[in-house]
Amino acid sequence: MDFSATGNDKRKEADLLVVPYCQLKQQPKALAEVAFLKDVLKSSLESGDFKAKEGEVLICYGTKTDKRIALLGLGPKEKITAETIRRAYSCLIKCCIAKKIQMINIMHFSVEKMHEDTLSDAIAEGMLLTNYSFNDYRTNKDLNPTLVKHVTLVGAKASALARFNKAKTIAQGVYLVRDLVNRNADEVTPQYLSAMAQKIAKDNPSIKVTTFDKKRIVKERLDLLLAVNKGSDKDPAFIVMEYKGDSKSKDKTVLVGKGITYDTGGLNLKPTGSMETMKCDMAGAATVIGTLLTAAQLKLKINLSVVVPSTENSIGSKSYKPGDVQRSYSGKMIEIDNTDAEGRLVLADALAWAKDHLAPTRIIDLATLTGAMVIALGEETTGFLSNDDEMSEQLTQAGLDTFERIWRLPNYEEYKDQLKSDFADMKNSGGRPGGSITAGLFLQEFIADIPWVHFDIAGTAYLSKERRYHPKNATGIGVRLLIKYLESL
Ligand code: BES
Ligand code: MN
Ligand code: ZN
Repeated sequence: MDFSATGNDKRKEADLLVVPYCQLKQQPKALAEVAFLKDVLKSSLESGDFKAKEGEVLICYGTKTDKRIALLGLGPKEKITAETIRRAYSCLIKCCIAKKIQMINIMHFSVEKMHEDTLSDAIAEGMLLTNYSFNDYRTNKDLNPTLVKHVTLVGAKASALARFNKAKTIAQGVYLVRDLVNRNADEVTPQYLSAMAQKIAKDNPSIKVTTFDKKRIVKERLDLLLAVNKGSDKDPAFIVMEYKGDSKSKDKTVLVGKGITYDTGGLNLKPTGSMETMKCDMAGAATVIGTLLTAAQLKLKINLSVVVPSTENSIGSKSYKPGDVQRSYSGKMIEIDNTDAEGRLVLADALAWAKDHLAPTRIIDLATLTGAMVIALGEETTGFLSNDDEMSEQLTQAGLDTFERIWRLPNYEEYKDQLKSDFADMKNSGGRPGGSITAGLFLQEFIADIPWVHFDIAGTAYLSKERRYHPKNATGIGVRLLIKYLESL
């Protein structure tokens, strides 16, 4: 989807002209100047069919320049927020896709008490996040949805166009995450993720990448990553990407993403009904890579590094075994209580390694870590644990701004009792009660006192059904949240 801007009277012919309406005293009220459309719209508006409810779209047939006119409802005027705007423009795009409408003109407008940038961002996000389809595995290309190609902002200033283009850069990061997660697990292997990181670095000179192959991983003694990898026919990979946007500063944020390219559960094999979605188990990895790429393209004045420990968690005669004790990179000995609690193992090594080698000011990890998270907060909210109130508050605010909302869970010490092992330093599973909390506390043991936030995106990264502008399956949530947060640093 491309954007351009033009003056009201200079607009060119398009498939559709979009006019936003709100409800004022329960009546539709145009938010843009539409005197020139008065005659065309008269009968449609008088019919009373269009109520301007949030996301309501009424298509009228117009004049030569405006073949079709869409009245787009934004809901009650006093209730308009960035999120209601996103939702309304998402409905608009769904309608365009259904009707194969590819060129649209949208009338620019303003909303009282809302900054013009906030408004532009919301319109752009609602459209861009909806204008996506995953077509890799359809042979009949006729069945691929026809997406919207071009949007002209009618009556918008250059500054608004710049916001739309920035939103597009961010959306491309989101699309990358969605594609990576949606592709087959046998395609998106640890080696594929490495190659992807290399390619990103090649295309973006401000990004440096180092990838460790198995030999190097052995040398680094990332032993928990190696343990999880034992049952897999594919080597593990350990990916480190660095973006320096502020070389004068020592401040550095490190993002760590769980890169389990498929989670069978290992010898503690997942049952039917639990395994089918497990190609999503590298969503954390995809999200941190997508975020770093986006930060670089936006030229953010920050230093950002990404660490991805990646392997499949497979079942086989070589698999690591429940009951065995494994050494971690940090030296702590871990009793493998359950081979399906593999994410925290590879992350433990990545967090400890990042702490030793990257001099992080703060660390944020993202992982599809626990089924318990899906039970606790469902698909709407991402849960997190943190040892730092300031980071928690800033990220919570970024979550509200982007509507990628997050909710803090307690990291109370007492839960740690559940991770006690009879003969090793710790075991990797704390059982079912508070499963997302004990998983987070396990990770916390490996980051010492560095300010840290752990996001469990198990419920929000991969959806069982479409919700608003999030498609079914991979959502790419996390990119917009993290970019918003990084911009506030
Ligand atoms: N990848 C899963 C968590 C998951 C579940 C992600 C559902 C997305 C949707 C993780 O590796 C896992 O299997 N966790 C176990 C932990 C348990 C064995 C302590 C779980 O949640 O059952
Ligand atoms: Mn698992
Ligand atoms: Zn997993």
